[in-house]
Amino acid sequence: MRRIGVLTSGGDAPGMNAAIRAVVRVAYVNGIQVYGIMDGYSGLINGDMRVLTRRDVSGIAQRGGTILHTARCPEFKTEEGRRKAVLNLKENGIEGVVAIGGDGTFQGAHLLSQLGIPTIGVPATIDNDLAYTDYCIGFDTAINTVVSSIGKIRDTMDSHGRVGVIEVMGRHCGDIALFSGVACGAEAVLIPEFKWDIDDIAQKLRNRDEMGVQSAIIVVAEGAGDAEDIAKQLIERTGLDIRSTVLGHVQRGGDPTANDSTLAARLAGRAVELLRDGKENRVVGIINNHIRDYDITEALAASKKHHTKLYRLAYDLAF
Ligand code: ADP
Ligand code: F6P
Repeated sequence: MRRIGVLTSGGDAPGMNAAIRAVVRVAYVNGIQVYGIMDGYSGLINGDMRVLTRRDVSGIAQRGGTILHTARCPEFKTEEGRRKAVLNLKENGIEGVVAIGGDGTFQGAHLLSQLGIPTIGVPATIDNDLAYTDYCIGFDTAINTVVSSIGKIRDTMDSHGRVGVIEVMGRHCGDIALFSGVACGAEAVLIPEFKWDIDDIAQKLRNRDEMGVQSAIIVVAEGAGDAEDIAKQLIERTGLDIRSTVLGHVQRGGDPTANDSTLAARLAGRAVELLRDGKENRVVGIINNHIRDYDITEALAASKKHHTKLYRLAYDLAF
């Protein structure tokens, strides 16, 4: 393999730049040239791609966002769109692709492999919702951002004797809420993987109030409910002073943590080695701190295990 392409797709995640850098540098060490493809699969369809030199990726390992930009590209879901993409890759002499993103990106990567372009997926999404890997690039940074934001909210909730209901991202996955909730000592963590009961939470807040403690932090995953609505229901049941905050896109920005940039380097480096060794239709992941690779279809079919022990611990540590 003499020339490969790299793209970032779906929602951005801190650490994507570190992954791009690792693709370029590991490829060059192996005598492979790298093309950067702009805006995810859109760049493949529009032919928006150019050579990335070792120097083009200097100083980006510690920068948030993605220098290749990202996009959600519905056209790639059509046969016509994918046909254009393959044509552009062939015209540019690109023999393989590293696709950095989440499960949607991997579905695209699988179809690209089927069309004869060996493609390897690198998991990058703050949601951490891919079942086959313990961690995705961006998750560690996101939970650190959430913990630091909740710390600030807790200061003001404590001062005013208020309850803060904080909604975090994660789509259908509760990992951001659960891990950050444990880290910041939240009084309740509401996630889609486990049932929760508004009356039970209201009762706990009333018990706390009777003991003279009014302030509390409740972290809710966006897939489990709406912070404003939960705050309203708790006010009705307790009469306490309760405020809601939706943290939003602050969770997707910022410089990656050392964990995320290291993970990105390790995963992306392995992705290039797989292409070099003639592999295709695979994804890389980290399991028990070992970098592994799997068939894309098998990886996407895996179902995510619930963090039952961590969830119980979150409740044991609260109230
Ligand atoms: P993520 O990769 O973070 O899950 P998306 O679900 O938005 O993000 O997917 C990113 C992109 O991957 C989509 O905009 C589309 O271009 C491509 N994609 C997603 N699903 C498919 C599919 N079934 N077939 C082809 N391409 C897909
Ligand atoms: O997949 C990452 C993510 O940030 C989810 O947590 C969230 O639901 C979604 O993307 C938000 O997407 P957008 O930035 O398009 O609003």
